[in-house]
Amino acid sequence: MRYGHFDDERKEYVITTPKTPYPWINYLGSERFFGLISHQAGGYCFYRDARLRRILRFRYNNVPTDVGGRYFYVRETNGEVWCPSFAPVKTELDSFECRHGLGYTRITGKRRGLSVELLAFVPHGVDAEVHQVTLKNESDKPREVTLFSLLEFCLWNAHEDQTNFQRNLSTGEVEIDGSTIYHKHEYRERRNHYAFYTVNQKVAGFDSDRESFLGLYNGFHEPQVVKAGKSSNSVASGWSPIASQSLDVKLAPGESKTLVFLLGYIENPKEEKWEKPGVINKTRAKALMAQFSTAEQVQAAFEKLQAQWSGLLSSYKLTSSDEKLNRMVNVWNPYQCMVTFNMSRSASYFESGIGRGMGFRDSNQDLLGFVHLVPERARERIIDIASTQFPDGSAYHQYQPLTKRGNNDVGSGFNDDPLWLILGTAAYIKETGDFGILDEEVPFDNDEKNKASLFEHLKRSFYHVMENLGPHGLPLIGRADWNDCLNLNCFSETPDESYQTTGNRVGRTAESIFIAGMFVHIGPEYAALAERRGLKEEAQKARELVKKMSDTVLEHGWDGEWYLRAYDFFGKKVGSKECEDGQIFIEPQGYCSMAGIGLESGHVKKALDSVKARLDTKYGIVLQQPAYKEYHLELGEISSYPPGYKENAGIFCHNNPWVIIGETLLGRGEQAFEYYKKIAPAYLEEISDVHRTEPYVYSQMIAGKDAVRHGEAKNSWLTGTAAWNFVAVSQHLLGVKPEWDGLSVRPCIGKDVADFTIERRCRGATYKIRVKNQGRGGKITLKVNGKAIDGNIVPYAAAGSTVDVECEA
Ligand code: BGC
Ligand code: NOJ
Repeated sequence: MRYGHFDDERKEYVITTPKTPYPWINYLGSERFFGLISHQAGGYCFYRDARLRRILRFRYNNVPTDVGGRYFYVRETNGEVWCPSFAPVKTELDSFECRHGLGYTRITGKRRGLSVELLAFVPHGVDAEVHQVTLKNESDKPREVTLFSLLEFCLWNAHEDQTNFQRNLSTGEVEIDGSTIYHKHEYRERRNHYAFYTVNQKVAGFDSDRESFLGLYNGFHEPQVVKAGKSSNSVASGWSPIASQSLDVKLAPGESKTLVFLLGYIENPKEEKWEKPGVINKTRAKALMAQFSTAEQVQAAFEKLQAQWSGLLSSYKLTSSDEKLNRMVNVWNPYQCMVTFNMSRSASYFESGIGRGMGFRDSNQDLLGFVHLVPERARERIIDIASTQFPDGSAYHQYQPLTKRGNNDVGSGFNDDPLWLILGTAAYIKETGDFGILDEEVPFDNDEKNKASLFEHLKRSFYHVMENLGPHGLPLIGRADWNDCLNLNCFSETPDESYQTTGNRVGRTAESIFIAGMFVHIGPEYAALAERRGLKEEAQKARELVKKMSDTVLEHGWDGEWYLRAYDFFGKKVGSKECEDGQIFIEPQGYCSMAGIGLESGHVKKALDSVKARLDTKYGIVLQQPAYKEYHLELGEISSYPPGYKENAGIFCHNNPWVIIGETLLGRGEQAFEYYKKIAPAYLEEISDVHRTEPYVYSQMIAGKDAVRHGEAKNSWLTGTAAWNFVAVSQHLLGVKPEWDGLSVRPCIGKDVADFTIERRCRGATYKIRVKNQGRGGKITLKVNGKAIDGNIVPYAAAGSTVDVECEA
């Protein structure tokens, strides 16, 4: 069942009922001011840090789940109240539409001939959310309503806001100035920032105290002020500051009126905080309001935003006969990649914004999905990440975005982390040709006194693996590898202990075949970089180590029909036919296949055939089988989940693409594309009732076949899934991938996709690639500017030039 449709022309998803199976959200902002907005106008916003500078309050785990946001109540003269966003009042509407677009959301509700539209976006370069409300009388009678706005302020620190009530309920402060409500919690002391909410018209009244507006025993759906039809002009003092304006609107038949509400964030220099004692300096706020005081100004900012997004997304354009594929590749997948770049894993409807910092592993993988969109920012991100690395090559598992320092709470010892830095950096250099980044002097653990070139950082990443080998010559797993829940040195029997940081057995025995696969896949990138720096011997040595690791995997990491997952603390196999549960895991099948370990000897084929036979389901490939039925002390968190959820045999959409890439390596394009379609959201639109999360973005996990709710997704938006699926589809299925000296062109998608074209910008040149697709399994012939070439690398052309590529595939 569907709850809307894609509008490909406008790059929007159009939701046509408020009753979607879960709140379907969008993101506003891409620089400093960010907002989350659901199709019912729920959500919140923050300035740079979702935990420390939360502007609007949002209650996670609330009942109902999506309450609090940017609300507009329409009060009719007969006392009826409704909202264009349906929520929170839930008066039935004659029609409802929510259009989530790139960086904006437009929600329109109509009732009895009155249409009210909310357009919300964060203008480029501006620290504010615009809420433009347009009322249109579509009837033939005059109409009179009172419009009430409502938003609730968070007391900045989102964690404190939800926990420290003995203080919070006495600290709220506001100032009222005409149509503007200023929120100045803690401004009197250590904060030099405030927020405001204004509207570009004279108001009939206002409220800034939640209790006065709602009534102590009322919810957002029944504000007493709205019921009464008149603001109470309350001035918050402690308790919960809100911002609500009321305006009387009279509309002749066919007439429309536009109101511009603005939610802004202002920072003042310390010496310019006050206008006079106790009164905040509003100069900056007023300047900001002046920029958005007319509908024309809003329209201009909106057009600028749209132009910016289309420019951004134009570096990879697919034209094919498969409209779902087009919309994933051209719009929604890269859009999600940009959101993961902006948010990392901080704020979504599943991530509370007060939890984790930026992941070392996560950020490097996210980079793979946005490096072609914003290469300069990718460069900056690489330096930030590398600056948190330890001198021995290991890494803090997470770091804080505001301070850019490693996070001690989670610590280090996830032994896959270092290798991701090589992968991310290599992808950046291939995309840009900026080998100079390797000479940047980058600190270790943010210590300015201990710096080395970025290349040296990569070298330490590479050798960190070599210096941490176990009894079979395979890499030690440490706290965990990609799978945060396979905690082989943990042995936790105490509730509330973190599986990720508890290491109560000291041993150097637990080994990861996954990290071995990574080493064989990523090690050659390090070797290539060494070579290009003239370090021939180092490159040679690295290649030998990679070869040796590959042989070790075949000797000690092969189970007969598939790659093993690990050796546990006691040296027992994990992910083997000898195990009762957890006999086969997806991660090593995917990664060792991508690395081509045993490609010629048939191991890759065998492993991927086993994936098909044992892990494939109608909703995607599950993480392992059989699911763990009971808790295994020696395996950790993985066995703490009920069968079919999360790492215990859920469908992790993050690692399915590794198998997809592996399949393309074997030339099995049809199989690869079939796996792709099983989890790509645009293909799941028809089963939205089962899938439940947004049909325009990936979720981290879909419940596996052992779960009661097989096919149901959770944790949409902020997941490495976005980047990896973009890599799989753009570089392997469609087959256009930047390499060191040129663009590799090798489509392998099966014959179901008819001839297609790709326009790819890279290093300033444009490549127009026409593919005649007969599904030849990766066997291709190429013509570049009319001339046949050998192999599949189209040499990089000068910036500004256009290269014509014909490909038979
Ligand atoms: C979750 C994992 C997640 C990890 C991240 C764990 O508690 O269950 O899925 O990857 O935390 O820190
Ligand atoms: C989520 C984490 O962010 C990611 O890094 C990890 O690989 C997966 N969980 C799997 O455990």
